[in-house]
Amino acid sequence: MPNGVGAFFFEVCDSTNARAATLAIAGEPGPLWVVAGEQSAGRGRRGRSWTSKTGNLYASLMFRPHIRPQDLAALPFIVALAVRDTFIAFGAPESQVQCKWPNDILIGERKASGVLIESSAKHGGLLDYVIIGIGMNLVHFPDDAAFGATSLLHVTGQEVSVKDAATVLAEKLYARIDAWKVDDFSSVAEEWTRYSWGLGQQRVLRTHDETFTATLLGLSDDGALIARLDDGLEKRLYAGDVF
Ligand code: BTN
Repeated sequence: MPNGVGAFFFEVCDSTNARAATLAIAGEPGPLWVVAGEQSAGRGRRGRSWTSKTGNLYASLMFRPHIRPQDLAALPFIVALAVRDTFIAFGAPESQVQCKWPNDILIGERKASGVLIESSAKHGGLLDYVIIGIGMNLVHFPDDAAFGATSLLHVTGQEVSVKDAATVLAEKLYARIDAWKVDDFSSVAEEWTRYSWGLGQQRVLRTHDETFTATLLGLSDDGALIARLDDGLEKRLYAGDVF
């Protein structure tokens, strides 16, 4: 990541991802961060909303890597690992911080962070911009989450400020983006797998048109989750396919 990263802070905004996209479309060169104290229309994956009360971190990094959309396969896992690094830096017990496919972070098997990556390609195929939107539960967590949730405060008893969390997250993310080699997925997959939750276990998976049980085996070299169905067949599931 080059020096001179821009940053915008809003006490309240609709969605830091939406603001970052508006700035990208307006021609901001990036990289730039948009951070908000509160979001009124925080976006989650698969069209869900992301509850965004004051106290948690809501941050989006917009940058313009000159690569093709298919070269982004490793990015969700790189981001998850950087968020994991950040929770650990603030005292979350290392053994309890796990990656849940595709890019959630769990602490003690409860969701503590979500990531929404959005991108736009130019005519001709290269990416125009990429936005990495990260929500980290520093203080609050929704108690109605289908999958149990938690926060850093709940786990460690320590309250971390949004500013400190954003600073450390940026450092951890830059280190991982700088080490990222678009043509080598295996080292990222290996590290993500080491810290992942649920591999080797049988899970109920839900796609658009079916619900089935499968054993999660690991990541393919194009970023899919490989699952073994009960009849022994293997299936590759991409991030948009599974709820
Ligand atoms: C998920 O569904 O797990 C992903 C949640 C991503 C939430 C973050 S908060 C900062 C950024 N701005 C948004 O509107 N969403 C992402």
